[in-house]
This record gives sequence, C-alpha cells and structure tokens, in this order.
Amino acid sequence: MKNIQSYLKENKDKLLQELIDLLKIPSISADSAYKKDVISAANFVAKSLEKAGCDIVEICETEGYPIIYGEKTIDKNLPTVLVYGHYDVQPADPIELWDSPPFEPEIKNTEIHPEGAIFARGSCDDKGQMYMHVKAMEFMTTTNNLPCNVKFMIEGEEEVGSVNLSKFISANQEKLKNDVIIISDTGMIANDIPSITTGLRGLSYVEVEVTGPNRDLHSGLYGGAVANPINILTKMIASLHDENNHITIPGFYDNVQELSEEERAEMAKAPFSLENYKNALKIDAVYGEKGYSTNERNSIRPTLDVNGIWGGYIGEGAKTVIASKAFAKISMRLVPNQDWKKITELFKKHFESIAPKAVKVVVKPHHGGYGYVTPIDNIGYQAASKAYETTFGKTPIPQRSGGSIPIVSLFEKELNSKSILMGFGLDSDAIHSPNEHFGVWNYLKGIETIPYFYKYFTELSTAKETI
Ligand code: BES
Ligand code: MN
Ligand code: MN
Repeated sequence: MKNIQSYLKENKDKLLQELIDLLKIPSISADSAYKKDVISAANFVAKSLEKAGCDIVEICETEGYPIIYGEKTIDKNLPTVLVYGHYDVQPADPIELWDSPPFEPEIKNTEIHPEGAIFARGSCDDKGQMYMHVKAMEFMTTTNNLPCNVKFMIEGEEEVGSVNLSKFISANQEKLKNDVIIISDTGMIANDIPSITTGLRGLSYVEVEVTGPNRDLHSGLYGGAVANPINILTKMIASLHDENNHITIPGFYDNVQELSEEERAEMAKAPFSLENYKNALKIDAVYGEKGYSTNERNSIRPTLDVNGIWGGYIGEGAKTVIASKAFAKISMRLVPNQDWKKITELFKKHFESIAPKAVKVVVKPHHGGYGYVTPIDNIGYQAASKAYETTFGKTPIPQRSGGSIPIVSLFEKELNSKSILMGFGLDSDAIHSPNEHFGVWNYLKGIETIPYFYKYFTELSTAKETI
C-alpha cells in the first residue's frame, strides 16, 4: 500500500479538520439536555460513511439513540469485517478543570505528544478512534485498496450501557454476519511499544441509598441518639475491603480464574515502570490487593470502587445537621467467568445484611456486563499483529486491559465472532477526565495501520480456505 503515506500527508489538514468538526458536537448520552446534539453526531457519522464509500447507510432508530449501520459488499465470497465504535461521549464535568473548553477542540503539544494532540471530550474515547476507521475506509475505497467486504455499526449509547444495541444485535444477526470484528476503543502501552488488547473486564454498577430518620435533624438535639446515614454508609463501604484489600462480599471470588505462574510471569514481561506510573499520577505509593502487581491489579483482578458519594450539607460555611439520607454509586470491575448478574445479587444481599436496624438500605442495580478474553492464535489477531508490525516496525504485545466494553462478550455470544481490539490511545490521554486528548500522531497512525489489517486478514482468510 505504497500510497497510504502520501494520502496521509496530502490530506492531513482535512483529516484533522473533519474530526474537529465532529468533536464540536457535545454528544453526551448520559444527559438528556444534549439529545439534539447526540442525534446530530449520529447524522454526522451517517454522512461520513456515505462519503467513505459505503453503498448502504442506515440510521437505525432504537428506543434510545440511533445506531448507524453502513455496508460495502464487493464480493460475497470474500470475508466481511465488521467495525464497531461509538459516537457518544462522557459528560465533561468538572468543567472548571479543563484548560480549554471540552467542545472547542484545540491542538496543543505535550511531552508525550510532541506532534500535537487534539484536546476535546471524546477525542480519544471514541470519536477520534472511531473516525480513524471511517477515514481508513475512505482511503481504501478511493484508491482501490479495499480487499474485502465491510460493515460498520456505530452506536450512541456505549457510555450508558449499550442497552438498545444489545436488542439490535439479537434482532439483526443475519444482517450483522461477519468474519471478524475490529474495534478501536482501547489503548496501547506507548507510541513506541504497540500492544493489542486481549481482554476486558466485566462490570456491575449499583447505587445505594441509606435512610435514617424521616427528615433532616438538628445535630445537637438528636446527634448521638439516632443513626446518621452518612456515618453508617461510610462505615458499611469501608467494611467492603479487608486489611489486605480483598473484597469481603461472600462468594465474590468464587468464579475468579487464577492465572498460572507461567501466565503471570509472561504478563510481567510487558514493559512497565512503577516509578513513571507514580510520577505521572503524582502519588508516593500505589495501593491495592495484597499479593498482586499493579498491572495485575488493574487487569486480571476484580475490584470494587465508590464512584460517587453524597448526602448532607455541602454548601458554604457550616450547617449542624443530620441528614435523612446518604447515597453512593459503586462499581465492581469483574474478570471473565464472573457473572455480573450474580455479583450484583451477592452485593445486594451482603450490603443489606450489614446494615444496622437503625437504617433502611436500598440497592438499585444500574447496568453491567461480562468480561472478555481472546486467544491470540486466530487469524484476526495475527492480521492485526502483522499490520502493527508493518506500520510500527515492532511486534505488538498482547495485553489485558482493565476497562470494559460489555457489548464485546455479546458479540461473541450472538454473532459468534472474535473482536480484535486495536486501540491507538494512551492511558495518559485522560479519557473520561478533564483535558481528554488524542495524539495527532496516533490518529494518523491508526488510519495508516487499519488498511493493513484488512489486507492481511483477507490474505490469511483466503489462504486458510485453500488449505
Ligand atoms: N472505551 C472505553 C473502555 C476502555 C477504555 C477499555 C480504555 C479499555 C481501555 C469505554 O467507552 C468505557 O468507558 N466503558 C465503560 C463501561 C461502560 C459500560 C460505561 C468503562 O469501562 O467504564
Ligand atoms: Mn469508549
Ligand atoms: Mn468511555
């Protein structure tokens, strides 16, 4: 593919400007105030797929936000690659911590991104990475480099649990039939250490509500004599980990697959500097489950974290009050074989059982999903590995990630396909945080690498058939 380099060079400004236009749309799926914007991002994606050469583009309405489906079939006997991505983004708050407004993209240089990075909500997760596939497709169709059939499925509800996508997949198995799924919605180790994600964690997300007295009370008149829901809630939460940072919910670890010593030794070979890790986060020490390394703690081990906690008086000055209610949002990251529905039940049962009689506890399950691991001895992984070798000059390292894309396990169950997670972001790109960014180099490298995946996947598939 001798012309990919010149294509990128000639079109660099246009490639950046188009992504910037997409990033200007605040498509926050969690907040209904942005409904119009989410729909306008969906329409943007549909138009860009038409421009990229898809023969069929459909805006598939759902009970929530539309799923954009695109297709180009060149020969029914050739393999079909399905691309998945999402056009919705996380809320931008706390907005005051952004150095430039989240929906007014700016290209700025950083130490890790000397060629510049685009700062905007969604730049890396996932508009920038999703758009690499659209542009790679456009390159292939306009330069006669598309070697197989392609389907696109770009949703607008990934950040809120992909509920409507699950239904869409079950109802459209034939339409979505494919030989491999490629997704760029993860990261890699570093720009000079390419890696391919081979695992994702599952998730169980719950909200808890603790109620004490039926109204807020004067903390002098009643303090000491009634349960303070905030005191109780924090005590209950603290008891969910023991002194070794193991989770104390009975049965929580029942189905956790322990890695063999060989597998752990293999994992430990991935380049990692604890000093750099601590420096980047400005922490003096790491913290986590006893007996496991940092990389193990954030990928192959399950966790429990409070994501938000509120109640009582948080305004200016002081107010002597005992609140009637306290709340928390709690998420558990799970590993393959842990069933999120069962874990949610275990949490609920346990949390209710540790509450003192003086309070009432309600546990509301939010959403969840299964984890995913993929072996590397399949042609999808091999094609991706060869593609990275071609454009990075290095063999990528397989690595399990700690993040979750719950729909991936459903792809395997319902469509019987492996997902290849070709992420080009970096952990330091601040996804979900203020000042999210995506390296210009990474964006272009993604567009450069993707066409090689198509090439090698088609070659390996056809070679397999003739054996
Ligand atoms: N793209 C991320 C997941 C991700 C990021 C996986 C980096 C691996 C590396 C995705 O958009 C995301 O944020 N997922 C959520 C779960 C979802 C159900 C809201 C997550 O992991 O918190
Ligand atoms: Mn994402
Ligand atoms: Mn995300």
